[in-house]
Amino acid sequence: MTSYFKGKSAIVTGAAQGIGFRICQELLSRGTKVILNDYNPLFLQQARDKLSEYTNLLTVEGDASDESIVNQMVSLATDKFGGLDFAIANAGLTVMGDFLQFPVEKLQRMLRLNLEGSFLLSQAAARLMIEKGTGGRIIFMSSVTGVQAHQDTEGYGMTKAALRMLAKDLGSKLARHGITVNCVAPGATLTERTISEEGYAESWSRVIPTGRASNTEDIANACLFFLGPQSSQVTGQTLVVDGGWTNISPLPPELYK
Ligand SMILES: NC(=O)c1ccc[n+]([C@@H]2O[C@H](COP(=O)([O-])OP(=O)(O)OC[C@H]3O[C@@H](n4cnc5c(N)ncnc54)[C@H](O)[C@@H]3O)[C@@H](O)[C@H]2O)c1
Repeated sequence: MTSYFKGKSAIVTGAAQGIGFRICQELLSRGTKVILNDYNPLFLQQARDKLSEYTNLLTVEGDASDESIVNQMVSLATDKFGGLDFAIANAGLTVMGDFLQFPVEKLQRMLRLNLEGSFLLSQAAARLMIEKGTGGRIIFMSSVTGVQAHQDTEGYGMTKAALRMLAKDLGSKLARHGITVNCVAPGATLTERTISEEGYAESWSRVIPTGRASNTEDIANACLFFLGPQSSQVTGQTLVVDGGWTNISPLPPELYK
């Protein structure tokens, strides 16, 4: 399996921490050449330090929703790696809040990154993959909030559901070019951001059937499947990785002691 990934090239956005970082780690350790993007210079430096053993890593600092940054990453893949095999639109903004009070500025920021950024990366990546005739794999990072309704996630969930539709459309459109397009939909996942919320891991472990929140490796494993050779006939799909939580929609534990 390592040999399949060795020498291939990837772009992963929003990847200095959390899920994206783990995806980069897994790919780098398999010999994939990776362009790691993040807009936070401090996080980016920390990521470079943690990954300093790898010579097959390039980083691009900038907003993943900015078309010029997207183009910069794809040009870098062309110039330094000779093409692009994997594009993982991972960067996403999670803003929750009461629908009736939800500020339009926050909605617009989510739409811009979660949708526009993902759309633009898939578009630029697909253009290059088609031009090179190599085929490729595109992954959008959706969420359980894009699969099922949840309280106070109307805006965020809308963006994550839209990515699933985009994967279906592009999966069909790009199939004849040997490009698959799929979504991974994480449930509660332990990252630097989420574990900063007090009680996060513990609260979720009580309502997730497997008894724990996901870790970044769980999500990266799903990505490896979509990037790997076993999934070449799988496109337009969403793989929910949530320990079974979405299936049962757990009721508030205080009502079921
Ligand atoms: N963590 C979870 O529980 C969870 C659950 C469901 C879905 N997701 C989705 O998975 C993806 C990754 O989530 P996470 O929790 O690992 O992310 P995160 O919020 O921890 O952010 C990861 C990195 O993205 C960077 N980033 C943020 N905005 C950016 C931008 N505009 N351009 C470039 N970089 C940017 C941050 O600096 C950070 O280093 C997101 O799309 C998120 O919506 C996460």
